[in-house]
Amino acid sequence: MISANQLTKKFVTKERSSAFTLRGKTREIIAVDRVSFEAEDGKITGLLGPNGAGKTTTLRMLSTLLTPDSGKAIIDGADLATQKVAIRQKLGVLGDAKGIYWRLSPRENLLYFAKLQGMNRADAERRATQLIDELGLGALADRPTQGFSQGERMKVAIARALIHDPQTVLLDEPTNGLDIMSTRSMRELIRGLRAQGKCVLFSSHIMQEVSALCDRVVIIAKGRVVFDGTPPEVLSQSGASTLEDGFVRLIGSDEGLFA
Ligand SMILES: Nc1ncnc2c1ncn2[C@@H]1O[C@H](COP(=O)(O)OP(=O)(O)OP(=O)(O)O)[C@@H](O)[C@H]1O
Ligand SMILES: [Mg+2]
Repeated sequence: MISANQLTKKFVTKERSSAFTLRGKTREIIAVDRVSFEAEDGKITGLLGPNGAGKTTTLRMLSTLLTPDSGKAIIDGADLATQKVAIRQKLGVLGDAKGIYWRLSPRENLLYFAKLQGMNRADAERRATQLIDELGLGALADRPTQGFSQGERMKVAIARALIHDPQTVLLDEPTNGLDIMSTRSMRELIRGLRAQGKCVLFSSHIMQEVSALCDRVVIIAKGRVVFDGTPPEVLSQSGASTLEDGFVRLIGSDEGLFA
């Protein structure tokens, strides 16, 4: 279970006055602005928002990669501010840079990350084989991942996130770049995690993607939560007749439509 309370992250950037100078005015960007929500065990929660809304920044804070400027989060009883190692052990994370080792095969990537998570060799091998089967990676399992297609890399990264059977799973745009068949199997995998009682939080900029999967939707725009409820409530709260129209009304622009 994740409980995020008023999470805030600002970035300070330089605005160049010309292409030939490194000097410029500094500007503060509030990427995530007092974001609060809960994601329960046995439920799929979608973090939905257009490009630049703050989804990745929120997930990075929850996965301990970025320190919030203010706000708190508790994940499975562990405090984000003081129990980072405990949180890393509880979480499975698919980040936005899928970063897998290209010299290693999928199986070697999985065994390496299993070792980092402290698993013994026999459990790691059993679990790696199970995930390779579930994700249909059999034919690729022992080839270096260099040259893998986007979808193939995504599957390896997902398997890696799940290798230690984490209770809470954070997935940043897990269906990006996947074809229809792979998207369907990814959805099945996410539903399977819910059936096992896991807490799944995933981000997307596509309303249909979220409504097909989620028990709960948290919509963010410009760093702020603008809606928190069930997919049908997107319609009732926005007064729109389609989910996509509801999303557009709630975020106050049509950015999300064309992403
Ligand atoms: N390291 C950084 N330095 C400066 N600005 C940043 C940094 N990381 C994120 N931002 C800014 O914070 C805002 C939120 O970015 P974030 O990556 O969280 O959005 P997102 O919702 O994941 O978008 P997308 O759908 O495009 O992945 C953006 O305006 C982005 O430019
Ligand atoms: Mg992102």
